[in-house]
Amino acid sequence: MKQLWTLAALLLLLGSCNQQKTNNETKDDTAALEKTWWKEGILYQIYPQSFKDTDGDGFGDFQGVIEKMDYIDSLGIDLVWMNPFFESPLVDNGYDVANYRAILPRYGTMADFDAMLAGFHAHGIKFVLDVVVNHSSNQHEWFKQACTSRDNPYYHYYHWWPAEKGEPPYRYSLFDPEGGWDYVESVNAYYLHTFAEEQPDLNWENPKLRQEVYDIMKFWAEKGVDGFRMDAFQFASKDTTWPKFPEGHEKDFIKWYGMRPQLHEYLKEMNEEVLSKYPVFAVAEGAGSTFQDAHDLVDADRKELQMAYHFESVDLSRTPEGYTLSEFKEVFSRWDSAFAKKGWIAIFLSNHDNARLIDRFGNTSAAFRTPSTQMLNTFLLSMRGTPYTYYGDEIGMTNIDMPNIEDYVDVDAKGKYRAAVASGADLDAFMKVLNYSSRENGRTPMQWGGTANAGFTTETPWKRVNENYKEINVALQDQDPNSILNHFRKMTQVRKANPVLVYGDYKVLQKEHPSIYAYTRTLGDEKVLVLLNFSSEKAAIGLSGLEKFGNMLINNYPELEIEDFEVRLMPYQAVILKMEP
Ligand code: GLC
Repeated sequence: MKQLWTLAALLLLLGSCNQQKTNNETKDDTAALEKTWWKEGILYQIYPQSFKDTDGDGFGDFQGVIEKMDYIDSLGIDLVWMNPFFESPLVDNGYDVANYRAILPRYGTMADFDAMLAGFHAHGIKFVLDVVVNHSSNQHEWFKQACTSRDNPYYHYYHWWPAEKGEPPYRYSLFDPEGGWDYVESVNAYYLHTFAEEQPDLNWENPKLRQEVYDIMKFWAEKGVDGFRMDAFQFASKDTTWPKFPEGHEKDFIKWYGMRPQLHEYLKEMNEEVLSKYPVFAVAEGAGSTFQDAHDLVDADRKELQMAYHFESVDLSRTPEGYTLSEFKEVFSRWDSAFAKKGWIAIFLSNHDNARLIDRFGNTSAAFRTPSTQMLNTFLLSMRGTPYTYYGDEIGMTNIDMPNIEDYVDVDAKGKYRAAVASGADLDAFMKVLNYSSRENGRTPMQWGGTANAGFTTETPWKRVNENYKEINVALQDQDPNSILNHFRKMTQVRKANPVLVYGDYKVLQKEHPSIYAYTRTLGDEKVLVLLNFSSEKAAIGLSGLEKFGNMLINNYPELEIEDFEVRLMPYQAVILKMEP
């Protein structure tokens, strides 16, 4: 029997979706996993510099976020993580903090921050603060003091190699091809920097420094923030015997520098001092290089952090050659199984450190931009783990074309270019990869409408607006029931109305299928089937072993073709079906 579901039936079904924010803190006896709001919530990431400018300086600001509060709420998200907005010389766009308790004036005042936070809370949205404490800016008062004398107590807030011992052993730096040590004459010593030279690493081995950080976290928790994203945190504890990094192993730097055993002690301390005292959660950026590392971070019994995110998913598609669906399934299935009973991870495919979702995982052609982005958003919102959506991905914003190094402002891009020059690499090939993969692609101004500068600013934006803003923008997609934006909104409601999508067990089906990613999620008697066509061709999958298909929860096409348990999907079609018990 051939069945065709129509859009009308789908809309009817969605109309009945429960639109409540998820906020329960209960223990489900049938599930090994404790239920909490930060597992049930959907997170939206805002890069404040690029979201909405209201004072005409070309940079986004808090008032802009306040202006767009209803829009943010309309997405059906529950948490917002905002990238750093603290006082900073902006060498790394705010990930170089000069004062952890002060707002960079271009974003507004502390009163504006308070108003924004209150606005989020009034909409039932929780707020996640970016805590950048693996390193500070070299403009932070601590570092300035540290550089005055080895006797200054702040000297010990950082890591040093005294020059009388000769040159420090080579240490890899992520942003600086010259390596991770830099000399300061006034103290005749080299300081450590894992990232740029202007980002000296803080000394977590010093209990005083740790207390300073806990005080900073308490300051923000008292203000009412609901969560902390611990930036680059896997590197915080260091092996202070400074073993020499083996050159040529740059790809393994996480293994070398990440997840030192002491880190867990410090996290327990942080948990005791801060996290357990407030209704907050914390998520670590990076989760080491093994499942054990990641687990130990977020195993509730260990009382450290609550959520981790690993890089294996975003690492899948770093070059224009892209990725294969089989690798994609393998990574997500492996990580899911590792966290099936304990711990919790974030699910994401993009953020401010990556090029755009659709360029890396979808299809940017006019014909497939919409369905492929809808399909990817269906994936993100139907996996176990807290889904993270990066601003602009809810409308399918794309990469920009930046073929020349002079166009780049990012410290990471510039460092990599210097390294490519120094090693005599083929610079044309290098620029091709950079143009595709640079994180600047993901930082262009939000495309609000078809007016000048996409409605982001009335003046010159800090970063060029993508030329395609007249075709890809919020105003247009708001009007179109079949847009990427409205599909995203439907999908957030589907996730909320179906706890099976949050807590249900995940099982991949026909893992070898070359173009369809099929999986079930099961919770008690509830079971749903997710079918995603990752290709630009029609594709079919036979599912004869499964129970009867029930209601369709979402479909990014008007119809779905099923014949005798063979489901035929259109290019990038994404559907979720309930299964009859
Ligand atoms: C993290 C941030 C990245 C930043 C780096 C140094 O990886 O996500 O944007 O450049 O840390 O702080």
